Amino acid sequence: MGIYGDHVLPRLINVGCNTKVSREQRARVCEGLAGEVVEIGFGSGLNVPHYPGEVHRVAAVEPADIGWKLASKRIAETATPIERSGLDGQSLPFADDSFDAALSTWTMCTIPDIDAALRELRRVLKPGGTLHFVEHGLAPDEEVRRWQNRLNPVQNRLFGGCNLNRPTVDLLRGAGFEIDHVDVYYEKGSPKFLSAQTLGVARSG
Ligand SMILES: C[S@@+](CC[C@H](N)C(=O)[O-])C[C@H]1O[C@@H](n2cnc3c(N)ncnc32)[C@H](O)[C@@H]1O
Repeated sequence: MGIYGDHVLPRLINVGCNTKVSREQRARVCEGLAGEVVEIGFGSGLNVPHYPGEVHRVAAVEPADIGWKLASKRIAETATPIERSGLDGQSLPFADDSFDAALSTWTMCTIPDIDAALRELRRVLKPGGTLHFVEHGLAPDEEVRRWQNRLNPVQNRLFGGCNLNRPTVDLLRGAGFEIDHVDVYYEKGSPKFLSAQTLGVARSG
């Protein structure tokens, strides 16, 4: 990816995605996680302080070495065992039916083949296992969507392949997940094209 993608961007994400507003959403999305958990796009471990005590172990999937390095203090400070177990959400190195739950926060926007990644999550989740997610994506309003579609090529170049306009719920349903519950809203303090959030829990049938 080059110096910007490998070194600068993970540091920008470590700071930019650690606001009070994002921490509140991290706390919400991690509620109810339990047992063996796989987190795709682990980044710098900003969700670690929010894992409930019922989580036995986390398999972290993250391509960026710098992200993993930045996570070391958070990993050292938690009682939850966390292991960097994979590099690519599109191809998970786990057996079928391995996990009770999965977690994805602001990662479905970036994985190039998101359909493949969701198929992989369904494969490695036990039947009835849950995917907890909060993702920015396609806005509920047509006018905002137009801006998202216009600005998407710029976002893509500046933020390592990040897309503004992915339809999170449609993608989940298309991959065979059932939606347990979902909340779609604009996050406070950011422009609408960036802040259309979809937070919820989907279930693998
Ligand atoms: C916007 S960041 C979010 C990081 C973290 N989930 C958080 O909430 O702070 C997107 C993350 O997806 C990771 N990523 C990119 N491509 C990926 C892939 N193919 N599989 C798994 N993670 C990927 C990036 O390295 C980055 O850490």
